[in-house]
Amino acid sequence: MGVIASAPSKVILFGEHFVVFGEPAIVLAIDRRVYARSELCDDGQIHLRSVNLNLAATFSNDIFKVEKGDQKEARIRFEPVKFAIDRILEKRGKKTGLNIEINSTVPVGAGLGSSAAVIAAVTTSVAKLLNIDLSKEDVYRITVGGEELVHGTASGIDPAIATFGGTLQFQADTGFKPLEVKSQIPLVIGDTGIQRSTRIQVERVRDLREKYASVIEHMMLAAREITLLATEALRTDDLETVGELMNVNHALLYGVGVSDESLEWLINAARKAGALGAKLTGAGGGGCMIALSKSDKLQNVMEGIQRAGGSPFIARKTDEGVKIEHG
Ligand code: MEV
Repeated sequence: MGVIASAPSKVILFGEHFVVFGEPAIVLAIDRRVYARSELCDDGQIHLRSVNLNLAATFSNDIFKVEKGDQKEARIRFEPVKFAIDRILEKRGKKTGLNIEINSTVPVGAGLGSSAAVIAAVTTSVAKLLNIDLSKEDVYRITVGGEELVHGTASGIDPAIATFGGTLQFQADTGFKPLEVKSQIPLVIGDTGIQRSTRIQVERVRDLREKYASVIEHMMLAAREITLLATEALRTDDLETVGELMNVNHALLYGVGVSDESLEWLINAARKAGALGAKLTGAGGGGCMIALSKSDKLQNVMEGIQRAGGSPFIARKTDEGVKIEHG
């Protein structure tokens, strides 16, 4: 059966995009996980398969051959995984053939950190299979390297949460600290179904920041303040304040140009249905939004998002970062 490892997906509650430029953000791991199974293969090649994306490819002496699915898509999904495997084989000092299978129900390109979770899960599974001792710090660093191939400049927030799990306040230069959160944080996630590139979204904000430095600087400071106030509101379980701050945070994200029509529909529908607050999560431009809701309104909010054309599901936070499931 080989070795199976899993890693959590995530939602950013506060501070996406601004975190790339050094501001703090709040991120939580959620209970939708990515699973990676690895086993030895005696043909000396690296075989990669993504069950949900219906993709398969082989690396044979670094020559990439797609066996199933779209060539470009397979390259985007598998190159970071190969990067991670190479780092482990380097540590081992000897090549070997591998079969890797990835299973996940996390929407891809939707702001939920699926690419980081895939890299963290594969890294952990292959290291265990080959008896290579990796600390969580090692997994984090390898995942950051793989993510840079996909996203270009990134803050490191997705690799951190996929590796360590829990609820974190994350800042690129100072690292992260686990946050004390009393409640379950009842969240509905609404998927617009529109895939987008984090790289392009981050570049969009970078361009705007260069063009209107003096304006965007104030927005960065406002984002920082929101994250700090939200940290305190989460600590004291003041969900009303958390919800209001989510709305304000979304206004800033809209301001820097990373929302889109599909997200606005779902966010407005969630607010109308009684959510305490709603915002886009992750890179925006499509992907997912989140709505904070008291338990008695969760169903209404789900229905509102569905009627507005989104696919809603309830997310629960989890403390578990990347871990071995079997083997
Ligand atoms: C992506 O989940 C969050 C962004 O802030 C990019 C990053 O922090 O690397 C958009």
